[in-house]
Amino acid sequence: MEDFAEVSYNGKSFKLPVITGTENEKAIDIATLRSSSGLVTLDSGFKNTGSTKSSITFLDGEQGILKYRGYAIEELAEKSTFMEVAYLLIYGKLPSQQELDKFNNNIKQHTLIHEDMRKFFEAYPSKAHPMGVVASLVCSLSTFYPESQNPNRSSDAVDLTIQRLMAKMPTISAWAYKNLMGHPRIYPNNELDYVGNFLNMMFALPSQKYEMNSAVVKALDKLLILHADHEQNCSTSTVRIVGSSQANLYSSISAGVVALWGPLHGGANQAVIEMLEKIQADGGGVEKWIAKAKDKNDTFRLMGFGHRVYKNFDPRAKIIKKACDDVLKELGVHDPLIEIAKGLEEVALNDPYFKERNLYPNVDFYSGIIYKALGIPTEMFTVMFALGRLPGWIAQWKEMISNNEPIGRPRQIYIGDTEKKYVSIEKR
Ligand code: CMC
Repeated sequence: MEDFAEVSYNGKSFKLPVITGTENEKAIDIATLRSSSGLVTLDSGFKNTGSTKSSITFLDGEQGILKYRGYAIEELAEKSTFMEVAYLLIYGKLPSQQELDKFNNNIKQHTLIHEDMRKFFEAYPSKAHPMGVVASLVCSLSTFYPESQNPNRSSDAVDLTIQRLMAKMPTISAWAYKNLMGHPRIYPNNELDYVGNFLNMMFALPSQKYEMNSAVVKALDKLLILHADHEQNCSTSTVRIVGSSQANLYSSISAGVVALWGPLHGGANQAVIEMLEKIQADGGGVEKWIAKAKDKNDTFRLMGFGHRVYKNFDPRAKIIKKACDDVLKELGVHDPLIEIAKGLEEVALNDPYFKERNLYPNVDFYSGIIYKALGIPTEMFTVMFALGRLPGWIAQWKEMISNNEPIGRPRQIYIGDTEKKYVSIEKR
C-alpha cells in the first residue's frame, strides 16, 4: 500500500506521498503541494526540510550515529586514512591499493599553485584572517583554469578539477598561515604524503627543516577524517545551492568555505578556544559562564555546545575527546584549557538548562585543544575544518550534478507593505 500523508485545506484534502530512505527515515514529498493546493511550506532554518536525496552520509541525531557511505565514523577514524576517506566520499567506494595510489599520484601532480597566484598573498594585509584568504584564492583558481567554467564537463574534466582542488587547498591554506606570520612560503614537497606535506608547508622554514612527528600526523589525519562530511549542513547546502546555478566547482567550494567561517558553524572551533582563554583569564571558574550562557538577556553562548541535528551526543566529539587526551599525553603537553573544558562540560551536562535542550559538546569543543597542541594557531582552526570538509563538499557537488538537480530557489511568505504610491523626494 502506498504510504502517504494528507493535508486538508479549505475543505479539500491533498494526498502527498511519504518516501522512506534506506535507514528508514521518512519524508513527506511536497513536490506537488503548490500546484495542487496553492500552498507552500514555511520552515525557517530548514529545521524540518530535506533538500535532497543523498547516498553520501547518514546521521541519526537522536542516536548519535554518523556513517560515510555506510561505514561507521568510529571505524573509519580508527582504521582508515584521510585520503582513503576522501576517495570513499568522492567516488562512492573504498579504493583498492592501486586506485588509492593513482588518486594520490594524480593529486601530487597539482600541488603547486601558479606563480601569479603567489603574488596575491603579498597584497593581503599581514593580519588577514586565513579563511578570507583561502576563500578568495579557491575562487581565484577558476580564473586560472577557465575551462572549469564549462557546465557540460566531461568526467575527466571534473576529475582534473577535483585533483587540483584537493592538491592546491593545502598549499593555499599553509601559505595563508605563512602570510599571517609574515614568514616565507614553503613549496610543496611531493615526497611527503598529504598531511605531511601540509605540515611541512606550515612549519618548515627555509633555514630549518620541519621534524615530522608521527603522532602529530596521525592526529591531524584523524581530525580530517572526522570533519570530512556531515550531510546537508550550512556550508554543504551552500556548495550545492551555488553549484545548482551551474557555477563552477571552484566557486561553489569557495562559497562553502565562506559559509563555514561563521562562529555558529566551523568558526566555532576558534570561538571555543577564545572562550576558554577568556575563562582562564577570568580565573578559570566555569559557573559564571554557564550562568551567562543560560541568561536570555546575554548574547553569550557556550561555544562548542549544541547541534542542530545531534540531540543525544555528537559521535565525533566522543572520538575527539579521547584523541585529545592521547595527543596531549603523547606530546607531553599540559594545557590548562583542557581542565577548563572538562569542567565546563561536566557542569553543563548536569545542568537542567542544557539537559532540557539536549545540548552536548559538538565536534568543535575539543578539536581546538588538539590543534593548539599540534602547534596550529587559533586563526587557522577553521581552515583545518575546511581542509577536512573539502572531499565532502566535492562529493555533495558531484552528487547534485549527477542527479541533475534543479537550481535551488526557495519560496518565501511576503510580509512587507503592499501598494504604496511613489512620493517625490521633496515631498517625503
Ligand atoms: N549555549 C547556550 N544555549 C544554547 C546553545 C549554546 N551553545 N545552543 C543552543 N542553545 C539554546 C538556545 O538558546 C535555544 O534555547 P531556547 O529554546 O530557550 O530558545 C535552544 O538551545 C535551541 O537552540 P537553537 O539555536 O534554536 O538551535 P539550533 O539548532 O538553531 O542551533 C547551533 C544549533 C549549533 C547553531 C547552536 O547550538 C549554537 O549556537 N551552538 C554554539 C555554536 C557551535 O558550537 N557551533 C558548532 C556546531 S558543530 C560544527 C558544525 O558542523 O557546524
